[in-house]
Amino acid sequence: MKALKDLFIEELTDMYDAEHRILKALPRLAKAATADDLKQALLLHLKETEGHIKKLQQVFQCFNEKARGRTCTSMMGLLEEGDEVATDFRSSPVINAALISAAQKVEHYEMATYGCLREWAGLLGNEEAGSLLQEILEEEMAADEKFTELARAGSNREALGEDDSGPADGAISERPGVRSSAMQR
Ligand SMILES: [Fe+2]
Ligand SMILES: [Fe+2]
Repeated sequence: MKALKDLFIEELTDMYDAEHRILKALPRLAKAATADDLKQALLLHLKETEGHIKKLQQVFQCFNEKARGRTCTSMMGLLEEGDEVATDFRSSPVINAALISAAQKVEHYEMATYGCLREWAGLLGNEEAGSLLQEILEEEMAADEKFTELARAGSNREALGEDDSGPADGAISERPGVRSSAMQR
């Protein structure tokens, strides 16, 4: 009978594949971005993603397993959609908002999976793996927050056809406790 450890390793191979796909996709998304701050944020996350792959290799080691990937069909789909919006909205003022949305879908998939993996590592009694996974999770959450910040600072307004210096009214709700969308917290 398969146990929690098997589930853990299976999800780990899923993320190992996903991170490699993200590593390949981020330069394309950065190239498609027309806002400099977004381009920089995507390239910074590319560097962090290299680190995630190294940390995942260490997590495999913690369980005496060889690092390996198993096709992550969800990430394939998310990244394919990212490429689609990058193409569909090229030369549009909506492009940066579209790329942020695509990037946040990826981050949320990563956050969900790393959250589970971290919990399971703890249940399996492997503290070292748990803290490595926590470190990755924190970088994914920080990246997600950065994308929200960039959307609110300019890309969403730009998508509405307003420039950065324009009034914030109407672009998004700034009332405390009111979220503009589920993705952009
Ligand atoms: Fe990652
Ligand atoms: Fe990420």
